[in-house]
Amino acid sequence: MTALNVVVGISGGIAAYKAVTVVRQLVLAGHDVHVVATSNALRFIGLPTLEAVSRNPVNTDIYEGVDEVRHVAVGKAANLIIVAPATANTIAKMATGQASDFLGNTILASSAPILIAPAMHTEMWQNVATVANIETLRSRGIQIIGPESGPLTGRDSGPGRMSEPSDIVAAALNMVASARDLAGRTVLVTAGGTREPLDPVRFIGNRSSGKQGVAVATAAAARGASVILIGANLEVPAPAGVRVVEVSTTLELQKAVVAESASADLVVMAAAVADYRPAETAQTKIKKRSDSSTLELRLEENPDILRGLSTNRSRDQVIVGFAAETEPDDDVLLQLGRAKISRKGCDFLVLNRVGWTEGFASDRNTVVVIDTAGDRVGEASGSKLSVAHRILDLVFAAR
Ligand code: CTP
Repeated sequence: MTALNVVVGISGGIAAYKAVTVVRQLVLAGHDVHVVATSNALRFIGLPTLEAVSRNPVNTDIYEGVDEVRHVAVGKAANLIIVAPATANTIAKMATGQASDFLGNTILASSAPILIAPAMHTEMWQNVATVANIETLRSRGIQIIGPESGPLTGRDSGPGRMSEPSDIVAAALNMVASARDLAGRTVLVTAGGTREPLDPVRFIGNRSSGKQGVAVATAAAARGASVILIGANLEVPAPAGVRVVEVSTTLELQKAVVAESASADLVVMAAAVADYRPAETAQTKIKKRSDSSTLELRLEENPDILRGLSTNRSRDQVIVGFAAETEPDDDVLLQLGRAKISRKGCDFLVLNRVGWTEGFASDRNTVVVIDTAGDRVGEASGSKLSVAHRILDLVFAAR
């Protein structure tokens, strides 16, 4: 990647000390980094540290560098802006377009992509005011990484920790590197988990939240693709700018995939699909039995959507399957993946491990991607969005 002019905005939260690592990693990657720190940020970290690490003067005061109109020039020259940490106050100021400090001026004067890494206490992050401000920023195309869940500054713990510096840097650089490289392509993504009804109030389902599939749709849309997201009972909102088709059962999912896949250059089957459905669906609630302590359910096999898609593909289309396995041993996991990809006939298989406490509903993921030959083409670990970008990189680069 060519060297970028990167503005790192630092606002006043304890996570400001981690922003030094963000600056350092960007400088070591060869980028020209300009720090814009709020006065409160400088109560947490020293200005000499930031100047030494960034190798540039640090901007704090709008009344400095007036002769070169610096409060506008820094933003105009930027190819990328990262705000880390982004406090609740800075997020509120960004949402209302305030220019009360150097950072506000820089953001308003810039047309560069912006990534923010929120950091605050859980109550502040979950406050309706912050939630609304984040929505506003998102709707303007500002990307948000984290916050993550974990120990906070006091004795409290929960969502509010700033994402790790390496994840912030990777997500920010990905935003620029990959900007619109999928323009003109159509990507079909299935996400979520199917539900097979037993009666009007019960179903057989699975624990997939849809987060990883939605992240793939988000990443593809951000890179300029035209995205169709077939969502099966999603627990997370679909990204803006994506056409969503809602389904619930495997048969509905299959119908939607068949209807939508013809125009797709890439199909990503991230949905967790039920292999079986109840042979009969009761029209009224199944009552507890008084004559027996067991209840048998008869299940009938569902179609294998991925295999059908791979066998019947009519054009040069890339098809990616997902496999969530509970196998603890890495080598055996890979063997399961190899057997699965040859059974399914897709071009790539994204393998990850799940368990009682691993995988589902988490904001992070670790995956290995294999190809039809069973070879590892790459791996990814980090936020589900960064994993999504990496999957897109791998599957498009290999064609
Ligand atoms: N899949 C599908 N149709 C099904 C089952 C699965 O299209 N009836 C897709 C999933 O969307 C996923 C891939 O196939 O991309 C692998 O799903 P998985 O449940 O791991 O595969 P199975 O063939 O069901 O294998 P297992 O025996 O491990 O359940």
